[in-house]
Amino acid sequence: MKQNRIFQVEPSIDDSDIKSVVDYLNSGGWLTEHKITQELEKNIKDFIGRRYSHAVPNGTIAIYLALLASGIGKGKKVGVPNLTMIATINAIIWADAEPVLIDVDESLCLSYEQLKEFNDLDALIFVPLNGRTGDGEKIEELCRENNILLIEDSAHALGSNYKSKKCGFLGDLSIFSFTPHKIITMGQGGMILTDNDEFNNNIFNLKTFNRSKDKQDWHDGFGLNFKITDIQSSLGLSQFSKLNMFIENKRKNLEIYRKNINNKEISFIDFHEDEVPWFFDIVCSSKEYKEEIKEHLSKNNIETRDCYPALSFQNYLKEVEKTDLSHSEKISENILWLPSSNALTKEEIETISNLISNHS
Ligand SMILES: Cc1ncc(COP(=O)(O)O)c(C=O)c1O
Repeated sequence: MKQNRIFQVEPSIDDSDIKSVVDYLNSGGWLTEHKITQELEKNIKDFIGRRYSHAVPNGTIAIYLALLASGIGKGKKVGVPNLTMIATINAIIWADAEPVLIDVDESLCLSYEQLKEFNDLDALIFVPLNGRTGDGEKIEELCRENNILLIEDSAHALGSNYKSKKCGFLGDLSIFSFTPHKIITMGQGGMILTDNDEFNNNIFNLKTFNRSKDKQDWHDGFGLNFKITDIQSSLGLSQFSKLNMFIENKRKNLEIYRKNINNKEISFIDFHEDEVPWFFDIVCSSKEYKEEIKEHLSKNNIETRDCYPALSFQNYLKEVEKTDLSHSEKISENILWLPSSNALTKEEIETISNLISNHS
């Protein structure tokens, strides 16, 4: 039942999701990762057009394993956009590699112009933040020419598209996340995709204890347990079957916001027609004005969320190598994420928009 409070985001679960999980539980399956997870992996890799995919417990682990499997660890430098969720950089630190902070451009994605100034990166993580794709394809070309391994952190962007390819198809490896606020969810969950045979084997071995093929409980090398469960994947499958509906909904809701918000202190960042908005973001004229809007909406029982702070603002990252990060540092403070759930009604979006428009 819908409560009065409008949350910034909530999962979109319906009877078909419940049925999918209950049917699985009734099937006598062994609960852990098996055929249902393989089906989900296949569906997602086929949708993206990649050769290999591996489900893992979450997006953070997916980035970590992508780095490990491609040999990015101690002594390697990895570029990362200064505006992203903390998991992107923490996975680099976890892998014992050295992060380098790079500014973002107007699209909020890593800046191609700034990237060109670096000549000592071993790898780069590109993030199609909030479903926007920026100069991702040009950056892929630059990485290829300069022998920089490219990982796409597509946690926000399942279903979104660059000009000529899907998000999840950029670079050497790509990842998705399936937490409750993502485009599709399975509670927790992540996926790593690649076309590279060696990386594929490495991911599989790292994920499954590196078991010898012919002798039980013998191991060909180091490996851990990053498997998921078929319970989660049964939810993932039913959610994935509704991806197009979720995408349509996101696009439709964005249009309603855009049509109804009319406030000279607020601007928008464009999406091109093949991109999918994940969260509905507004750019306020100042940090102070953002606080005012936030409070005004909160008083009306409407929850919002601040954009991620620039990574360079986090105290424990103060020593990380960086260049001029002025754009990400400034804009991150002015962006507010409005309610973005699939369950939002047209009336709710109009109410939120009117509150924003009428606030002087
Ligand atoms: C851009 C980005 N990368 C990685 C992650 C990590 O994903 P997870 O929460 O599944 O570990 C997130 C999570 O929100 C994210 O937003």
